Amino acid sequence: MPDIRTLGEFIVEKQNDFPHASGELSSLLGSIKLAAKIVNREINKAGLVDITGAVGSENVQGEEQQKLDLYANDKFKAALEARDQVCGVASEEEDEAVAFNKELNRNAKYVVLMDPLDGSSNIDVNVSVGTIFSIYRRISPKGTPPTQEDFLQPGHRQVAAGYVIYGSSTMLVYTTGNGIHGFTYDPSLGVFCLSHENMRIPENGSIYSINEGNYIRFPEGVKKYIKYCQEDAPEDNRPYTSRYIGSLVSDFHRNLLKGGIYLYPSTAAHPNGKLRLLYECNPMAFLIEQAGGLASDGENRIMDIKPTELHQRVPFFVGSTKMVRQVEDFLKEYPEQQ
Ligand code: AHG
Ligand code: MN
Ligand code: MN
Repeated sequence: MPDIRTLGEFIVEKQNDFPHASGELSSLLGSIKLAAKIVNREINKAGLVDITGAVGSENVQGEEQQKLDLYANDKFKAALEARDQVCGVASEEEDEAVAFNKELNRNAKYVVLMDPLDGSSNIDVNVSVGTIFSIYRRISPKGTPPTQEDFLQPGHRQVAAGYVIYGSSTMLVYTTGNGIHGFTYDPSLGVFCLSHENMRIPENGSIYSINEGNYIRFPEGVKKYIKYCQEDAPEDNRPYTSRYIGSLVSDFHRNLLKGGIYLYPSTAAHPNGKLRLLYECNPMAFLIEQAGGLASDGENRIMDIKPTELHQRVPFFVGSTKMVRQVEDFLKEYPEQQ
């Protein structure tokens, strides 16, 4: 028998490191694992059955919803509700937070925030997409429905966070605050197997990921940073390589393994950037810090921001420590005119 460690075994092993762990978080992660397998199965059929394309509706943020956005949202919600460890969910695809009504759920201690399908506009063209999740302990008392306060906690209070990448292989990457670990899905066994234990992002990198088509609308500091990335300075590995997939999960995953930075700054059209603090930025910030990198809004640590609304957006710079610091320096040097 090869020495395979499955995600399920690994979670239990790590749970045993905490003497008073009750197994509730392990069970919660188990439901995410299950929903990921179901969504993975469906995504693999894209093109064969009628699951690609838009449904004709928009989410609360005015973005066109894809069939698979709603499918993934339903599957993750259902899996989370079924295991009774979660009292409510907030999702990019839901206008309001959803409270689970069963008594067992009302007595549960966790809330989950998620982007069920990230990069969904890539589905129709067979490019990698993902799911992002973020887990908090509720603040409101058990036995009552969750409140806004439970969902609007700063990122540093996250208990766990992770993503699934449906790529050339499917992987689940997560952290509970003790490093970040990656598991590759073996479809023949139907299990996620430990493949990337304790990942560390290089302190410096030579990849930058940004939608450069928006260049004209970027803040001056970001424009200057892009020019810096493109300068001819071989001793510093510059010019850097530009890579942009358009799925945060995929861009983040590549940069995590190779070293690099992902940028989604404010633009004239999106003064707070495009990415969502609660569903995208906070979980990715927790993961990157656990891997030794940084996540910033250009000035502040992402996980220190106190959220004020569910679908809040924030400029986002995430990746290798030196690169994130460098962008912050450029933004400081070239402040925007008010
Ligand atoms: P989502 O599909 O969940 O709406 O997220 C898309 C996000 C992110 O994944 C990606 O990096 C970014 O939007 C791409 O935006 P642009 O097309 O503006 O570059
Ligand atoms: Mn997204
Ligand atoms: Mn999405």
